[in-house]
Order: sequence, then structure tokens, then C-alpha cells
Amino acid sequence: MTAQPDKYAVFGNPIKHSKSPAIHAAFAQQCDQRLHYRAVRVELDDFARSARCFFDGGGKGLNVTVPFKQEACAFADTLTERARRAGAVNTLSVGADGAVSGETTDGIGLVRDMVANLGWQLQGRRIAIIGAGGAVRGVLEPLLSERPAALLIANRTAARAEALADAFADLGPVQGGGLEALDGLAVDVLINATSAGLSGEMPALPDIQLTVRSCCYDMLYGAAPTPFMRWAAQNTAWAVADGLGMLVEQAAESFYRWRQVRPATQPVIAQMRHLLAAA
Ligand code: ATR
Repeated sequence: MTAQPDKYAVFGNPIKHSKSPAIHAAFAQQCDQRLHYRAVRVELDDFARSARCFFDGGGKGLNVTVPFKQEACAFADTLTERARRAGAVNTLSVGADGAVSGETTDGIGLVRDMVANLGWQLQGRRIAIIGAGGAVRGVLEPLLSERPAALLIANRTAARAEALADAFADLGPVQGGGLEALDGLAVDVLINATSAGLSGEMPALPDIQLTVRSCCYDMLYGAAPTPFMRWAAQNTAWAVADGLGMLVEQAAESFYRWRQVRPATQPVIAQMRHLLAAA
């Protein structure tokens, strides 16, 4: 009898628009891996029970998305140092001993998209990130490990940015402040990690000095350029990108943790771009 394919899933709420099943199916096909990956909508108060059932039923690995990333952190038996710092987990993997380990691959995905796919340099550059929510907390360690000259976290609510900067200050030159901290600042890499674009808005930014080599990255993505991307293009950024590559790269890192095989991401990013445009 042929063994069943290994089981993987993404848990979230809402989950209907998740691209993860399509991305992992593309990786599996490309890498000749027999696996089954599905999207599961989990009730808001039912994460831990559902995750326990999934692993008790032989599941090999879970991706976890909004709003369960913090709960996944508490669920894991062990955490990587990166996940512990982030206080969030998007990848759970079961080991041979049955223990479930937690990792966050979002920041690895962001850095790999910027450096490997887009060819942007981060080392020695002045980086500013707008926002101070969970999305920012999850990417600070990988960004600081690229050794930027400075990393400013600028947020509408300054205290949140300051608290985040304090929590990561031992890892590199990170500072926090309000959006006005960007006023007149010369920025090489500007990352939008606010949720403002979800409602078609642009965070109210002061006069930022983009340099001739400025690169602007929106962690959101869509079929059309986001408000932040349009703003960056109008302000003559040297390069502008959305977060689709980050999405595929964080998935590739999860896939690698589960299967010890690294998929080629460029064809999958192109495929997802095509799907987005067609939707
Ligand atoms: P996530 O986990 O996705 O980061 P979050 O914790 O809700 O979500 O954080 C959303 C971020 O977007 C916050 O930094 C928020 O700023 P505040 O901390 O001041 O609330 C930011 N944000 C949302 N809408 C915004 C807007 N219209 N202008 C500026 N910042 C905005």
C-alpha cells in the first residue's frame, strides 16, 4: 500500500484568500515532494485544540497566520531565538520525538526578497520602517542581522515604536519614534509595515528625504500598486516593490524547514503575480 502524503496546513481566520496552498503546491510539484497542504479556518477561541488535533492526527507542519501567531508561540514546545524575540510563530514543525518547534520566517522572507530577489543592499544603509505592530516585531531581528547603519522604527503611536526599539536595542542600532522622526531624514530603504493600505489609505508621512538610491518596500501587496507604492514612485524612489516576494520567500523558508529542500522562488513569484492579476 502506498503511504499517504505528509500533511501540512495553514491555520488562520479569515483564511479564504490565503495563497499558501497554491504556493506550497507549486513548491511540492517543482521539488517532487509528495505532500498535502490545505487552508483551515480556525474559530477564534480554538487554535490550541485544533493544532493539537492536527499534530495528533499525524500532521507534519503548520503555517499560522492572523490572528494566531502569538498563540502559536505559546503552543510550541520549543522556539528558535528569533521566534522568542518576535513573540510570534508562523511555522510549526513536529520533530522525530513528537515535540513541536516554532519559528518565524516572515523576516527571513522579507530580507531574502529585498537582498536576493531585488538586489537591494541593506548592510551599511539607513533603513526606516513605518509601523510598530506584530508585522514589525517579526522582521526586526533579520533586518538588524544585515548590519544596517541605522534602523528607525517610526509609528503613529510613538510609544509602541520606542518600546520595540528598546526590546531589540542589543541587536543593533535601532531607534523608535513618531512619524515626525522621519521628517527631513535621509533614508536609503523605507519599509511600510502599517495596515493603512488595507483600507486604501496612506500613512500621513512628513517630508522624507529619499536619496538617489532609495528603495521603498510595502509589506502589503495587491493586483495594483498600493497607495504607499504610488507615493514612493511619485517621490522618485529608485526602486519600489510590494510584499508578494516576501510572501513566497517566507513560505519557501517554511518548506525548507519541513522538507529540507529549498524551492526556486522566482518562478513561483511570477506564477503568483499572474494569479493576482487574473483574479
Ligand atoms: P500588524 O500585526 O499587521 O502589524 P497591528 O498590530 O494592528 O497589525 O499594527 C498596525 C500598524 O499599522 C500599527 O503600527 C498602526 O499604528 P498605531 O500603532 O499608531 O495604531 C499602523 N497604522 C494603521 N493604520 C494607520 C494609518 N492610517 N496611519 C498610520 N499608521 C497606521
